[in-house]
Amino acid sequence: MSRHPELARAERALVLQARHGRRAVAAGALLACFAPDGSDDFLHIAVPGAADPDDWAPSVRRLLELGPGRVPRLEFMEELHPDLPAALEARGFRTSARAAAMVTTAGDLGRLPDAPVGPPPLHLAEAPRHLGRFLDAQAQAFGMAPGSGRLFFDRLRAGLADGSVLAAARLEGDTPVSGATLLVTSEGAELAGVWTSPERRRRGLALGVCRHLLASALDHGVDFVWLSAAPDAAHLYRRLGFRRVGTQVNVEPPAGGGTAAP
Ligand SMILES: CC(C)(COP(=O)(O)OP(=O)(O)OC[C@H]1O[C@@H](n2cnc3c(N)ncnc32)[C@H](O)[C@@H]1OP(=O)(O)O)[C@@H](O)C(=O)NCCC(=O)NCCS
Repeated sequence: MSRHPELARAERALVLQARHGRRAVAAGALLACFAPDGSDDFLHIAVPGAADPDDWAPSVRRLLELGPGRVPRLEFMEELHPDLPAALEARGFRTSARAAAMVTTAGDLGRLPDAPVGPPPLHLAEAPRHLGRFLDAQAQAFGMAPGSGRLFFDRLRAGLADGSVLAAARLEGDTPVSGATLLVTSEGAELAGVWTSPERRRRGLALGVCRHLLASALDHGVDFVWLSAAPDAAHLYRRLGFRRVGTQVNVEPPAGGGTAAP
């Protein structure tokens, strides 16, 4: 029995998400998951793929043997793999992000804060024409390069169509000003990409969109949701019933080891 059962479930959901729509290549106890040919490198990802070995070094070596330009970044839960960061850093990988991993379960999802007054946010599956503008505004809210949100267009459109993604947005006229996505797997869902346009912040928009999406998830039978929280957003998520259960880390490959699908 894991000492971190909820964190372990969140990581199982992360691994299922990583595999979804990607080609998985085993590298020892790690799994490199490659998005379809022609995808941006950012969409390739490696995750733990088997029980922790006594020694991570052979798995890290196997990952590097995928070859220059073919090693994806890694995402995993630090407390579940305490020896992995050092094994990666010993081979030149660099930890680029550590974020609070938070979860909420069915009981808390049934006690969401009251919905704000006004019309409910829009489900993007019902209005796919807003998809491009949604991604552009989301990328801008995250401070990403203009247009970079479009990298996710095909994945989001396919996910909305097959039900593996729920997405909601608050619109002003035809302009999305706040939004969020929920990536659904059989182990639970991830609340991801929560955003509000800079000029519309601190008005309760993100709270309202997330609340709406979580209530929909409960209606869809989702009983476990996890997320990795930016420091400024943790309080927002606590108000929605999330609790911290651990740490999610992102680790980048050594210089020259960036990805291109093999
Ligand atoms: C994090 C983010 C999504 C929050 O969006 P938002 O619409 O401002 O969120 P809300 O208004 O619902 O809540 C934010 C804060 O405003 C406060 N607030 C809400 N309505 C308010 C009002 N009318 N007056 C004053 N403050 C208000 C909330 O209490 C909350 O305070 P807290 O930070 O102490 O919890 C937004 O800042 C953002 O897009 N950041 C960049 C992307 C990002 O980091 N996303 C999160 C990834 S995990």
